[in-house]
Amino acid sequence: MTKIKNLNLASASRRIGILTGGGDAPGLNGVIESCLRTLKLAGHEVIGIQDGFDGVFDERNINLSHEPISHIHFEAGTILGTTNKATIKGREAEFVAKFDKLKLDGLIAVGGDGTFEALGRVKADLKIIGVPKTIDNDLAGTDVTFGFDTAATEVMEAADQLRSSADAHRRVMIIEAMGRTSGWIALAGGLAAYADALLIPEIPFSRDAFLQFLKMKKPLHRGLIVVASEGCAAIGEDASIAFQVMGSPQADRFGGFSEHLARWIEKEAGWEARHCVLGHLQRSRPPCFSDRLLTQAMGVEIAKMIDENAWNQAVVSRNGKIVRAPISDLMQPPRLVTADHIWVKRAQALGIFTGLAE
Ligand code: F6P
Repeated sequence: MTKIKNLNLASASRRIGILTGGGDAPGLNGVIESCLRTLKLAGHEVIGIQDGFDGVFDERNINLSHEPISHIHFEAGTILGTTNKATIKGREAEFVAKFDKLKLDGLIAVGGDGTFEALGRVKADLKIIGVPKTIDNDLAGTDVTFGFDTAATEVMEAADQLRSSADAHRRVMIIEAMGRTSGWIALAGGLAAYADALLIPEIPFSRDAFLQFLKMKKPLHRGLIVVASEGCAAIGEDASIAFQVMGSPQADRFGGFSEHLARWIEKEAGWEARHCVLGHLQRSRPPCFSDRLLTQAMGVEIAKMIDENAWNQAVVSRNGKIVRAPISDLMQPPRLVTADHIWVKRAQALGIFTGLAE
C-alpha cells in the first residue's frame, strides 16, 4: 500500500471514528474525504458514524475503509448524515455503553460547541480531535469556519441577481441571510455585492436613521438592495424568533424580520418592497475554492495528529494556517462582528448603510 511520506508509519494501525454533528455546512464531505484518504494511506481503519449522536445510540455506522474513496468533496451536505437536535442529556450511560461498543481508538468530531461540550461531558477519557464547523462563522478559537465562504457567496450572488428585479420594479429588495446572532454571512456577502444597506445583529439600527437613508436614496435609485441577517433588530427591539426546535442546543430559529421590514418600508418610506429569504440554499451549494482547501488541509493535519497521538485538540485556522488548539478555545462565547471590523469600516467608506452613525 502507498504510504504518506511525512507520517510516522511505525505507529500501529488504529480504528478511528468520524462523525458530523450540528447543522450541515458545505465542506463536511471535504473533511471526510481528506481524512479518509490520509488515514487509509497510513493504514488506519475509519468508521463513519451516521447522523451524529443518533448513529451512536442506534448503532448505525459504516466501515469506510472497505469503501473505495470516491470524490465526495465537491458535494454539499455530509455522506454520514447529521442532526442539529440530537441530545445526549438524560441518556448519558446509554451513550457511553453504545460508544464503547464501537471500540474506537479515537474520534474525529466535526461540529460546533454543542457537539464538543456533549462529548466531553459524557466521556472524560475520550480521545477526540475536534473540527470546528458552522456556516455562521461565529465559533471562537478559529479565524474562519468552513462553509462560511460558500454561504456568503450564495448571498453575494443573490444580491447581484435580485438587483435587476429591484431596479425593474423600482422596489426595495430585502435579502434575509442566515447567521443566528452573528452577521458574518450578511456582512461579507452583502459587501461583496455592493448592497446598499447591511443590517446585522451586532449593530442594531436606528429606524429613524434608516428611514432618512431610504428617503435620501429614493429619488436617486430605481431599486435598492438591503441584506439583513435573520437575527438583526432595530435599536430597542428584539430579534424575530419564528419557532423553536426542542432538543436543539440552540433552540431558537430566527425568521420574519425581512418580511416585517418590507411592510414597514412601504408604509414609512412609500417605496414598494419585497423580501427574499435565502434559507438553506446557503448551506446547500458545493463548497467554494477556499472551503475546499481549508477542509483538505484539516484532513492532512488530522492524520498527522493521529500519527503523533496528539489527541484532545482541535484543528483551527489562524492567520491563514491550519494549527492545533485546545478544544476549549472553541467553546468560548461566539465570535461576533465588531463595529470596527474592517468590513464594516469599508462598507461605511463605500456609502453603504450599516446602522452606525456616519
Ligand atoms: O447555525 C447554522 C444555521 O444555518 C443558522 O444560520 C440557522 O439559523 C440555523 O442553522 C437553521 O437551522 P435549521 O437547519 O434547524 O433550520
